[in-house]
Amino acid sequence: MKQVILTGDRPTGRLHVGHYVGSLKRRVDLQNSGKYDEIYIMVADAQALTDNAEHPEKVRQNIMQVALDYLACGIDPEKSTIFIQSMVPELTELTFYYMNLVTVARVQRNPTVKSEIQMRNFEASIPVGFFTYPISQAADITAFKADTVPVGEDQLPMIEQTREIVRKFNHIYGEDVLIEPKALLPDNQVCMRLPGIDGKAKMSKSLGNCIYLSDTAEDVQKKIMSMYTDPTHLKVTDPGHIEGNTVFTYLDAFCKPEHFEKYWNDYASLDEVKEHYQRGGLGDVKVKRFLNSIVNEELEPIRAKRKELEQDMGCLLYTSPSPRDQRGSR
Ligand code: TRP
Repeated sequence: MKQVILTGDRPTGRLHVGHYVGSLKRRVDLQNSGKYDEIYIMVADAQALTDNAEHPEKVRQNIMQVALDYLACGIDPEKSTIFIQSMVPELTELTFYYMNLVTVARVQRNPTVKSEIQMRNFEASIPVGFFTYPISQAADITAFKADTVPVGEDQLPMIEQTREIVRKFNHIYGEDVLIEPKALLPDNQVCMRLPGIDGKAKMSKSLGNCIYLSDTAEDVQKKIMSMYTDPTHLKVTDPGHIEGNTVFTYLDAFCKPEHFEKYWNDYASLDEVKEHYQRGGLGDVKVKRFLNSIVNEELEPIRAKRKELEQDMGCLLYTSPSPRDQRGSR
């Protein structure tokens, strides 16, 4: 069986370090592993409209921003196909048929949909399109016969929903027509859900708590220096807490042993830093400076590549006929 990856992002803003550690970095590794026959990375503009119908310009503008972020991180168009969801209208068609295989009650039980409804204060005013996006996501995945979907933890209920649709479809219309996909989660537990710089559960544009891949080194520094730490760690000599301390969560996601020799040779490992912080006597500013060096080291090549691509936006526009154009000549 062919090994096929499909994944994607809603273009509602530039991508941030949460996307990066949670999924983007992994995609690049998977792409370069040479183990996959086909890799599809989708800019999910149609899905983005399900809760942004009043802001189509925002979605339109961010399609290119997300594409820039992909390329800057190392998604290579020679190895992976980047495409725009709305340019494959068959995905919408397929969604329409899949809708008959899912009950309203089943979507209502989808934990991600549930929490998004709550987050957006939708309650009774939920758009039908938004409510059905898990079904459209099943169409995205199965249309490409993807067996592997690298995503963050919040997308697990979508994959489960897709698997149910596949089983039902195959049961009714013929075995083995559709492929049952599996999710591929980040292997580092903290990377699953990197909190915002304010310590809030998730990075989100509307909360203004993100570090973007396109932020300048100065922006990143400012954001890291303002990060939420331990509110009980008032004096340097006070014992500090690691749990729920955003700076340490980020260190868990970004820090590698070689960083100590390079940026902070007072310590040999992250455990030593944590131990000192918990004991008392280690100030937040020092830890934040270390984190800033590491994060900026990781983001610098991405930023440079992005700048270079921005100078030549024309290079992003692939000129082969879109599926829509090809249709006319059938
Ligand atoms: N729901 C994903 C997000 O919010 C985007 C997405 C749409 C997706 N279709 C997909 C992800 C199919 C994986 C597979 O970012």
